Amino acid sequence: MKPKTIGIMTTGGDCSGLNTVIQRIMDGCVLRKWKLIGIRDGTDGLYLSPAKTITLNQESFQFANSHLAGSILSNGHAYTTNFITSAKSGKLSAFNNRLKKSLHDLNLDAFVLVGGNGSLSLAHTYREIYSNLSLICIPKTIDMDIPKTDRTLGFDTAVQQLVSYCDQLLLTARSHHRWFVVQTMGRDCGQLALHAGVAIAADAVLIPEIKFDVDNLVKHIKSLKRDYGIILVSEGISIRGHSGKPADMVSRKLTASNIPNRTAFPEHIQRAGDTLASDRILAAGFADCALNAIENNETYVMTTFQNGEFKTISLDEFFKAGKPQRDPNIDGVMTSNAYVEPDNVLLQIATDMGIYMGEKKR
Ligand code: F6P
Repeated sequence: MKPKTIGIMTTGGDCSGLNTVIQRIMDGCVLRKWKLIGIRDGTDGLYLSPAKTITLNQESFQFANSHLAGSILSNGHAYTTNFITSAKSGKLSAFNNRLKKSLHDLNLDAFVLVGGNGSLSLAHTYREIYSNLSLICIPKTIDMDIPKTDRTLGFDTAVQQLVSYCDQLLLTARSHHRWFVVQTMGRDCGQLALHAGVAIAADAVLIPEIKFDVDNLVKHIKSLKRDYGIILVSEGISIRGHSGKPADMVSRKLTASNIPNRTAFPEHIQRAGDTLASDRILAAGFADCALNAIENNETYVMTTFQNGEFKTISLDEFFKAGKPQRDPNIDGVMTSNAYVEPDNVLLQIATDMGIYMGEKKR
């Protein structure tokens, strides 16, 4: 088989596991005698002429970096020329053309796009950008809101980051007989809060998918034998008539009911942390699947992990399987989202454990 040239790019918010997947793809390319070109700074770097690149090989990529969070390629800046800023200035089609030209100039046979549901939805919508090569997407995000995969890269490590953070908070909570309202990331998907909540046996977990009643939350906390603990609040929840950060809203309600509490915001620490073994294995599986897909000349596909199996599905299948949402940043573009569904097994487990999960019936 003629040696191939592969491109790889990380886009959207970073997470742990990106460097592992880059390293696993690189190792696979070395074995096959393929060349691997990393695009630096996501679409910012691809937009440049010539594109900002680095040849990835065992000299340029230090193996010791492969378990560190973040991306050695970087994910780009917020305010440079990208999909969002180009859409806002009415120059999206010129931007797309520049990306297409850069990919063409790099002479790539295949392109591995490691992205979240926003980036994958954009790749589906603007498939023309990748028309002359094999496009393989790898799903990553701490939000785990990508349809058709049981895990996204970075999710398990983010859950562990939250768990370690809450384990520490619980010690000071106990000393001071108070509660911590911890606000998790996750956008409008409650998976991160739900998983961490079950892992730490939180006393309450509020997620956007389930309605809750603050009075019942207060009753629940007051009914507990302990006088300290953790209430996890997903960043996507809202309380009618209240504005501001969700954790602050809940905290005010608790204070008004004489429940001593503090808020805590782990923020981007959730995207950091040494990549857990399960995320490294996921990275290895996704990389293997992506390399096989390139060998099989597949295109417009996404790697998935479903029911213990790694395989590819078409980007169309990914897109249609999710619940469509308007892209919050780009007019007229839809993203495909996954949420905590009512039959999620962890919901039942959490409720059985006595965690207040909103008005979910036992
Ligand atoms: O999508 C990943 C995520 O970490 C969300 O959970 C969070 O809402 C958002 O990105 C934060 O984005 P930024 O890095 O722009 O603050």
